[in-house]
Amino acid sequence: MNKKNILVGQSGGPTAVINGSLYGVICEGARHSDAVGCVYGMINGIEGFLADSYMNLSETLSDDDLELLRLTPAAYLGSCRFKLPENLSDSFYRVLFEKLERLDIGYFFYIGGNDSMDTVSKLSRYAAQIKSPIRFIGIPKTIDNDLWGTDMTFGFQSAVDIATEAIDRIHTTATSHSRVFIVEVMGHKVGWVTLHAGIAGGADIILLPEIPYDVDNVVRAIKSRTEAGKHFTIIAVAEGAITKEDAALPKKKLKEKQEKKGYPSVAYELAEKIQNRMDQEVRITVPGHTQRGGSPCPYDRVLATRLGAAAADLILKEDYGY
Ligand code: F6P
Repeated sequence: MNKKNILVGQSGGPTAVINGSLYGVICEGARHSDAVGCVYGMINGIEGFLADSYMNLSETLSDDDLELLRLTPAAYLGSCRFKLPENLSDSFYRVLFEKLERLDIGYFFYIGGNDSMDTVSKLSRYAAQIKSPIRFIGIPKTIDNDLWGTDMTFGFQSAVDIATEAIDRIHTTATSHSRVFIVEVMGHKVGWVTLHAGIAGGADIILLPEIPYDVDNVVRAIKSRTEAGKHFTIIAVAEGAITKEDAALPKKKLKEKQEKKGYPSVAYELAEKIQNRMDQEVRITVPGHTQRGGSPCPYDRVLATRLGAAAADLILKEDYGY
């Protein structure tokens, strides 16, 4: 078998466990030494690679380094947010493929979310168009858990843990000061992390992008809790949650409206609307990017390593398009 090299990159928002999948690709690549020459890593994703920023991971990382890589919560190769041209005739693709050919790349792995899978899709289609033998494989990573064709993406469970802990910890002040607390949870345009953390943390109200909300209903729910003798309320709101009124607007109009309103994020808008309708103190907690870092949960560690290894294993089986 003619040996070819692997090129692997990390892209988009990191997760606590993104290095686990890189570890999986490198180890599985090394195991298939009959088919794989060496493993190169793009530094800062495809954007970095285009600027000739990459490293030879097979030469750089010792076995001890690999063990550290598996356990260290960081995006070792760095990341980027970079959208490839829609038009496959753009000279961008020719330039990129020349760079891949110069490194004798046979297998290209991209660890990321929706934009990264879009990159993999475009490169695969371009490869088919020019009859290139280079194969492209996407490894599904995102805390948002919103990748088509997957049951669960790695990073999601760790983010749920962190958001749940934020809700758990807010209970102390919410109850001691009889406040309404809004905990804003990440997830881009979907509510998976919020729903799971909200249920696990015992949030009293959960607002998701998938179900546009009505502020009057939210206030009604808070008041009925007070009437029932519960003097605090915790609201888990997804960063992409939206009112019924805004959901009815065309996309462009909505964007203009949001820019005009100028709230830092959805929690601030919701807090103001609630505060305008009642006297109870309202406070905001935004765990933000902490949901993508720190020590990953065991479930994610196992899933990330398995998916990284499975992706490299597809090479041997010559089972592409996944
Ligand atoms: O896609 C992952 C994610 O963390 C989303 O949940 C969030 O909307 C977005 O990335 C934030 O991106 P940035 O790092 O650019 O602020």
